[in-house]
Amino acid sequence: MNTITRLDAVNQPRTVEQLVAGVATSDGAGVRLTRVLTQDLQQRLDPFLMLDVFSSDDPDDYIAGFPDHPHRGFETVTYMLAGRMRHRDSAGHEGLLQSGGVQWMTAGRGVIHSELPEQESGVMEGFQLWLNLPAQHKMITPWYRDIPAAKIPAYATPEGVSVRVIAGSSNGVSGAVVRDATEPVYLDIHLPTGGQFSTPLPATHNAFVYVYRGKVQIGGRIISAGRMAILGNAPDADGIRLDAADPARLILVAGKPLREPIVQYGPFVMNTKEEIYQAISDFREGHLADAAA
Ligand code: FE2
Repeated sequence: MNTITRLDAVNQPRTVEQLVAGVATSDGAGVRLTRVLTQDLQQRLDPFLMLDVFSSDDPDDYIAGFPDHPHRGFETVTYMLAGRMRHRDSAGHEGLLQSGGVQWMTAGRGVIHSELPEQESGVMEGFQLWLNLPAQHKMITPWYRDIPAAKIPAYATPEGVSVRVIAGSSNGVSGAVVRDATEPVYLDIHLPTGGQFSTPLPATHNAFVYVYRGKVQIGGRIISAGRMAILGNAPDADGIRLDAADPARLILVAGKPLREPIVQYGPFVMNTKEEIYQAISDFREGHLADAAA
């Protein structure tokens, strides 16, 4: 990991607008998880549609996995902190997602895939984020990439903060994935005792952090582990600044809003009801993932 010499200036850091605890739920064939970014926050956090957090050392909570299921109209980004998950999809992609790795899947016009644990004990921990596609890209050809831990760009600051840049860029370091339409920024940030960190962000990007170890302060507000903080969009805000009294870990996610209608029905996210009816009908008739658009 390279050490940068200094952080880019942030003069007007964002403040916390709202703290969110999320809701315990289960998905797939009975995987227990916490849905932190729920449907009622989709407009506020446009272009992000969902954030699920899973963390358990009890195989009963994860062993059933996510058998074959469809997606259309958006991207899924799975970041594994601990554990092993096998992915197979209708576009012929297969991969093993392991600790510290990311799987970025663009469902586009349609993918049917399974995500199944490849472990019978131990900890399974990570995140699945759903990132919307703009209307003109919702029916594009599916795309998929596994990014192993060693291939995710990372840097350390002189103060000993380490940052993994999954998407976008931060303090001059470009991430593993770049997207033009939504300009997503996805960082995993580890702060040591007394650690301070800042990174510029466009004021118009919607942004949130989710703390998964310890606690951090943003503008005097304390965000504890298991909480998401939605950050304000003050027009003069030029970035984010974090402080940690004790060691802490969090993800920072930000993106450029699409400002298009969002119509979701389960695993399909389109712009109109008619497009949802079409997705359901395509899936039922067995050609959701057909090559012809
Ligand atoms: Fe899925």
